[in-house]
Amino acid sequence: MTTATFAKGLEGIVASETEMSYIDGEQGVLEYVGISIGDLAKHSTFEETVFLLWNKRLPSKSELAHFEEELQKRYELPSGMEQRICSLPKTAEPMHVIRTMVSALAMHDPSPNDNDVESARAKALNILGYAPTIVAYFDRYRRGLELVHPDKSLTFSENFLYMLNGEKPTPAMAKAFDLCMITHADHGLNNSTFAARVIISTLSDVYSAITGAVGSLRGPLHGGANEGVMKMLNEIDSVADVENYVTQKLAKKDRIMGFGHRVYKAKDPRATDLQKLAKQLAEDTGKADLYAKSHKIEEIMEREVASKGIYPNVDFYSATTYHCIGLELDLFTPMFALSRIAGWSGHIIEQLSDNRLFRPKAQYVGPHDAPYTPMSER
Ligand code: CMC
Repeated sequence: MTTATFAKGLEGIVASETEMSYIDGEQGVLEYVGISIGDLAKHSTFEETVFLLWNKRLPSKSELAHFEEELQKRYELPSGMEQRICSLPKTAEPMHVIRTMVSALAMHDPSPNDNDVESARAKALNILGYAPTIVAYFDRYRRGLELVHPDKSLTFSENFLYMLNGEKPTPAMAKAFDLCMITHADHGLNNSTFAARVIISTLSDVYSAITGAVGSLRGPLHGGANEGVMKMLNEIDSVADVENYVTQKLAKKDRIMGFGHRVYKAKDPRATDLQKLAKQLAEDTGKADLYAKSHKIEEIMEREVASKGIYPNVDFYSATTYHCIGLELDLFTPMFALSRIAGWSGHIIEQLSDNRLFRPKAQYVGPHDAPYTPMSER
């Protein structure tokens, strides 16, 4: 009999190999294929970052142009999808919409179950191209606005903001959004990525794996935390109220959204990049108070709980950033999903390239030899 170790929440368990992201949680380091997230945030684009994650190297100029063109071809949804989106309840949450529509895409694919690596890459590119259109169409439909069809001459980030707002974003807004896409693209074996790998390991299909990952991401302990951060910022009237708010929450053992991480015991490097961006955008859009509240929360959390290794994570400053970009609150987590499709897909490809079924064990802690009591005696 093999001996088994029980680790609640699988803490500390290595369950996959990856060549995509490297995380040093003690030092606060994140690299994609060896390149620091700070360098990518400064110099790269989302498209180039996706190429890097999927090919484990940076593209040449012509390879990048080709990749961008292939993605742009996929901005337009398969026929029938627009009608599906515009028949959903307008009250639906966008995360439920993405999950449902990614699942529906399988029915528009003539060979949805093809699982060789090349087919998986093609399906991943389709989903990455279609997803922003799904979100933007649904948001305009629910607001009673005319749909804005994609513009294939625009980048992933420009095109999404264009479809959402009906006007091309300023270069600064497009760059800010693109940086959010880069910083959220991949992050080791996080919960939703693990969900995707678990599903594809049964040799199910890419659509099922990404649908499951979207479901995982929306939880408030994972990608849903960015919406929780914004709700918290809205509950705090001014910087002067932050101290009471945070200390009372901590006294009640409530969690402060956007803080803490299973892997990082130092400040999440993505939070460092997003903090700079949030500060700049808040100043540029007349929302300096929002940044000031966030910064004060960080200061108090540093004083109260940094000794436990609790620091801001990626969701903390992304909330202020998305708000200043002008996004509705319930679009924050969908933005995480749009970007993370890159990481989920890369992991699906890695899993398919060297698959073994995930099948851990549960430790049975119930009774033995229990009598079966007939219904009449219960
Ligand atoms: N606020 C206050 N206390 C916290 C927080 C927080 N945000 N996070 C952890 N703690 C405390 C927790 O109460 C516990 O204290 P004690 O040992 O005294 O009982 C200790 O830290 C360890 O917590 P844990 O729940 O065992 O840690 P975990 O590794 O299971 O949880 C986490 C990680 C991310 C779920 C957790 O930190 C959390 O709930 N954070 C708030 C939600 C959040 O921001 N999630 C986004 C994560 S990063 C982006 C992503 O991957 O989606």
